Amino acid sequence: MKLSSRHLLGLEGVPKKDIDLILDTSVSFREVLDRPIKKVPPLRGKTVVNLFYEPSTRTRISFDLAEKRLSADSISFSASTSSVKKGESLKDTVRNIEAMKIDMVVVRHKSPGAPYYLTQCLEANIINAGDGPHEHPTQGLLDIFTMRQKYGKIKGLRVLLVGDIKHSRVARSNIWGLKTLGASVAICGPTTLLPYEAEKMGVDVYTHIDEALEGVDVVNILRIQLERQQAGLFPSQREYTNLFGISKERLHRLNKNYTIMHPGPMNRGVEISNDVADSPQSVILDQVTNGQAVRMSVLYLLSGVDDREATSE
Ligand code: CP
Repeated sequence: MKLSSRHLLGLEGVPKKDIDLILDTSVSFREVLDRPIKKVPPLRGKTVVNLFYEPSTRTRISFDLAEKRLSADSISFSASTSSVKKGESLKDTVRNIEAMKIDMVVVRHKSPGAPYYLTQCLEANIINAGDGPHEHPTQGLLDIFTMRQKYGKIKGLRVLLVGDIKHSRVARSNIWGLKTLGASVAICGPTTLLPYEAEKMGVDVYTHIDEALEGVDVVNILRIQLERQQAGLFPSQREYTNLFGISKERLHRLNKNYTIMHPGPMNRGVEISNDVADSPQSVILDQVTNGQAVRMSVLYLLSGVDDREATSE
């Protein structure tokens, strides 16, 4: 089985069969992560470059480990310690890197569309690791994988995304992927942090958290960025916490077998209380573990090396 595209730029418009293939393949790679030797050979001889023009902890380490566990040669590039500092353009940087015979590029960039732009300049497979507020497809996929792991299905689940939806690439990728798989999706946040005409994305829109939480299976809590407060989009962190923060007292409105998610990095005590973040219903660290399996699956499937047994040692 093959994906419909050579690249993963976002989840908007990705067919259900491709998402299902990535998730099904991730199950085998998730099993590899529980072995004493967490390494398989399918990307032996392939070279992957991780281009990070923005800070990252989880995504960068997760891709780096995923590549190593698939036996690829991988190299990480950080804009802050490269010739970008001397004024080199994105196009020149990547064309020089490609001249070193690379096969795949993982890119995080502040500009929406930067990964698409690279598909026009390079022959390599391109994977979007977050492009400004546009999309973060592997985060969306790992969130969906984590939900599927717990509930065994996505169709029919009620999923609520809370927080700064407007500036969130994680929210957009979750919405597109979940809608394609048949979930019922809702968003909630201050009006100033909701996208214009959000209903057109096929989601239910709330500005009161207690209403939004009613009958929900999964709450995915997004980080509130201090710079949004400085830009005047909400008055204070304390007010945000009072009106939208997810605390134990609010959780009785959820369905019985509910799940708490957060893509990280978390602001404990702002968008999520400590007791919720560390509760038995929280799968926040499972998301991180599953992220490696999902990224292994994406790298493997995009590489086109499906003639080899992916998970045999
Ligand atoms: N979830 C996520 O993208 O985290 P990082 O910014 O640390 O990669």
